[in-house]
Amino acid sequence: MTATATRPLSITEAIETRRSIRKFVQEPMNADDLQEILRLASLAPSAWNAQTWRFAVVQDPAIKAELQAASYGQPQVGGAPAVIVVYSDMEDTLKTAEDTAHPGMGEEGRAGQRKTFDGAFGGQDVAQRGQWGLSQANIAFGFLMLAARGLGYDTVPMLGFQADKVREVLNLPEHVQFAGLLPIGKRAEDGHTHYRHSVERVTTFY
Ligand SMILES: Cc1cc2nc3c(=O)[nH]c(=O)nc-3n(C[C@H](O)[C@H](O)[C@H](O)COP(=O)(O)O)c2cc1C
Repeated sequence: MTATATRPLSITEAIETRRSIRKFVQEPMNADDLQEILRLASLAPSAWNAQTWRFAVVQDPAIKAELQAASYGQPQVGGAPAVIVVYSDMEDTLKTAEDTAHPGMGEEGRAGQRKTFDGAFGGQDVAQRGQWGLSQANIAFGFLMLAARGLGYDTVPMLGFQADKVREVLNLPEHVQFAGLLPIGKRAEDGHTHYRHSVERVTTFY
């Protein structure tokens, strides 16, 4: 556990205190904390337990600089101790569908997953099922931000980048889709307080 969080924050505290941070303390990420944040994000739910998300963790300064260039020069990319690139790989998910079956369900479960995935996605093109995979990866992206905050870290979610360039930098296949880039570290600025629509503005009760 780190200096800014002597205990994990409650989920309410994590949500209340998360805000986009674009200036970070210049110290490397604690490797155990990083591992734990990724583990917690991996506990996100997904349809059929597909777990389409994949994480690329970039700490190498030269690769961060390339990601920054691919992000229209946004300085929080190179300035963060780490950048977690969250993407979905639906083709890998499809190829390895059996791996998503709960072990408690045995061989029958594995065969069931294969049948389910082939039936649902076999007839779709790569782009179509890639979109579905991305909708699952977005859930993990949200979990990741809150897991980070819960352990005393700060982040800024980002979609302001050129996907093709990020694929090139990380040597990722063309079919992967990005949930976002997530620069992560300890806050070196306060960020902005929340400004949101009221619940009434965005909610209809039936
Ligand atoms: C999907 C997504 C993409 C975003 N892309 C960027 C970005 O490229 N650069 C940036 O500085 N902030 C980006 N943001 C941060 C938003 O501006 C920020 O979340 C929003 O203004 C609310 O502020 P808060 O995060 O401090 O609560 C993005 C946020 C989300 C959720």
